[in-house]
Amino acid sequence: MEGAGVLCGLLIIVAQLLQMAVSQNLQVGFYDQSCPTAESIVRTAVERGFQQDPGNAPGLLRLHFHDCFVRGCDASVLLDGPKSEKVASPNFSLRGFEVVDAAKAELELQCPGLVSCADLLAFAARDSIELTGGKRWDVPAGRRDGTVSNNAEAEAMLPSPSLNVQQLTDSFTRKGLSQSDMITLSGAHTIGRIHCSTVVARLYPTTDPSLDADLATQLKTLCPQTGGSAASTFNLDPTTPDLFDNMYYSNLFGGKGVLQSDQILFESWSTKLPTMFNILSTTSFTSSFADSMLTMSQIEVKTGTDGEIRRHCRVVNPAASPGPSA
Ligand code: HEM
Repeated sequence: MEGAGVLCGLLIIVAQLLQMAVSQNLQVGFYDQSCPTAESIVRTAVERGFQQDPGNAPGLLRLHFHDCFVRGCDASVLLDGPKSEKVASPNFSLRGFEVVDAAKAELELQCPGLVSCADLLAFAARDSIELTGGKRWDVPAGRRDGTVSNNAEAEAMLPSPSLNVQQLTDSFTRKGLSQSDMITLSGAHTIGRIHCSTVVARLYPTTDPSLDADLATQLKTLCPQTGGSAASTFNLDPTTPDLFDNMYYSNLFGGKGVLQSDQILFESWSTKLPTMFNILSTTSFTSSFADSMLTMSQIEVKTGTDGEIRRHCRVVNPAASPGPSA
């Protein structure tokens, strides 16, 4: 048992070292010379999107997470197509695509062919957190965009809320993230929403006994077994739904996790102890969150001559013309 724990620890350290090696290819201020306005263009689009609909902030944050877990942070989640990641079941409720389109259109006007959609997503996620009250951090850039997007890969790589603690942990360690990163990043659920279609499995035919009784009653009112709308939504953090604070964890300590995966993480001592200090205050949480986001946003990035800089985030660039035939 002890041997397995040591081995697991070593594997995590190796994965993190590999991650650090990758991060050396990205650079803070990557666009300083080539497109000095890149980050402010993205920021302006995110602010506009946020004013139109504050739900774009959680939407953009989740887009970045779902991007990074499938083929690395390469904007594969943004590609349209009948079998692309967008049609995978964990991605049914992704939002924020219009904000990405607006930012990319302006980037292409000012700096054609220079700023990747993958970097755009990383900047937009950071800005969204800052706009909702979280801590700002410098985003190393230089990611390039992938050309492949496959729904089956998204189904396989994105963690489901019905996984147990070990399966959830495995899905993060596979990507070079520690269990502590996983719990800290799950704090993203301090903003945003969940759909009835996601919650009903905990309510019917029998109510999940780990669900707080008052919360179960509220959820059943919003999501009746018959006659309700699968599209109705409930705030993931009912206390301060639009604020990037540590309130979501307080809910979990009170047994009020809407998302089953978050609640079971908190019912396991093995996952609770290591991160307890990170989340005791909003300041320590937002600071730990920024650190873990830095790690997440560098998963399996494409740099150098890998991939491409997409002209439009929803489609790969047309293949280069083969030139005149001999
Ligand atoms: C630990 C594994 C995770 C699972 C199982 C999970 C699952 C989910 C589910 C089921 C929803 C609600 C979907 C719906 O009904 O519309 C959701 C929402 C959300 N998740 Fe996660 N998540 C996880 C980790 C993360 C991470 C690491 C982040 C970001 C760093 C994140 C960010 C979000 C955000 C911001 C929302 C709200 C989206 C919106 O309002 O549009 N999640 N997640």
